[in-house]
Amino acid sequence: MSLLFSPITIGQLSLKNRVVMAPMCMYEVKKEDGIVTPFHFAHYGARAIANVGLIMIEATAVQPEGRITKHDLGLWDDKQTEKFTHLVDSLHYLGSKVGVQLAHAGRKAEDALQPLAPSAIAFNSNSKIPKAITQDEIKQIRSDFIASARRAQQAGVDVIEIHAAHGYLISEFLSPLSNHRSDDYGGSLANRYRLLHEIVTDIRAHFSGSLWVRLSLSDYDKSGQQNTIADWQQIGQWLERDGIDVIDVSTGGVMDYAPDLPLHGGYQTPFATAMKQVVGIPVATVGLLDSPDLAEYILQTKQADLIMEGRVLLRNTNWLADAAQKLHDHNFKPFNDSYQRGQLK
Ligand SMILES: Cc1cc2nc3c(=O)[nH]c(=O)nc-3n(C[C@H](O)[C@H](O)[C@H](O)COP(=O)(O)O)c2cc1C
Repeated sequence: MSLLFSPITIGQLSLKNRVVMAPMCMYEVKKEDGIVTPFHFAHYGARAIANVGLIMIEATAVQPEGRITKHDLGLWDDKQTEKFTHLVDSLHYLGSKVGVQLAHAGRKAEDALQPLAPSAIAFNSNSKIPKAITQDEIKQIRSDFIASARRAQQAGVDVIEIHAAHGYLISEFLSPLSNHRSDDYGGSLANRYRLLHEIVTDIRAHFSGSLWVRLSLSDYDKSGQQNTIADWQQIGQWLERDGIDVIDVSTGGVMDYAPDLPLHGGYQTPFATAMKQVVGIPVATVGLLDSPDLAEYILQTKQADLIMEGRVLLRNTNWLADAAQKLHDHNFKPFNDSYQRGQLK
């Protein structure tokens, strides 16, 4: 049996395989109310029927002003919990574990009148100049993360992932390129980590499920000012100490820079491996892991513990069945006997 299709247990969380659907915003909330629509049932349901072990529901806003666009999902209001619960129930019924990525878009909140950020520095020349967030607004964001996590827990999610990557609010705090504050939330690495520390600690105190954090381990900056890998390893160790269960390693998004490395399969995996070297908790890797052989090799060689699949699942819902065939994994079980008949001998 391949490792990709072997079960894994992380604390209380048992996954039937090591394939995680990466969080991907769908911008399908046309009514702009943050509430789950029939699209989300079909979109995520199809991946659950296709056997994805854990579905990470897309970046879901903790505040209306913290949405990337008005079409994002949200959990900032009790009115959003009911449909969200139905979605989680339906994905459980179809056999997947379910996570949600809680997010605040910070200076990348495109539709906010005045986005919030650690410092009043725009992302690029096309984006709004954000307002430097006050300590009171930080308190409000902390309590909004807790309230959204409570709603997610009430909805029955197995995993909450805090979005601390890709240049959204928490990621902006972590990077010295976007955080020029002179208070307790800026300057040293420990100060830049403070907001993430507080949010993790707040949610850990209320949420009994599996708590994950997504980080960007490079800003692709050439000025020599970005966090170093050693800085990220320190943050990973602090996160482990603060009680999270999995670190999900991505890159980029803080600055408007393209990656300075060839975009080949697994291009972000060395960053995950660098994190794995210093923490005892599992590490997930993401980024062009379309080749089942590559995904299996990464797991076999312990470069990472979980494989996240993004765009390939948008092109090929049935990626897992194809991957099992390529890996000659005859233990792969299609959703039911009727689907089994689709697996030609
Ligand atoms: C349409 C789309 C939406 C995305 N939305 C999110 C998101 O909500 N949160 C996040 O952390 N990453 C998001 N990403 C990044 C993916 O999670 C993933 O890290 C990236 O696509 C690389 O993996 P892949 O090569 O398997 O697609 C998005 C990517 C795509 C293509």
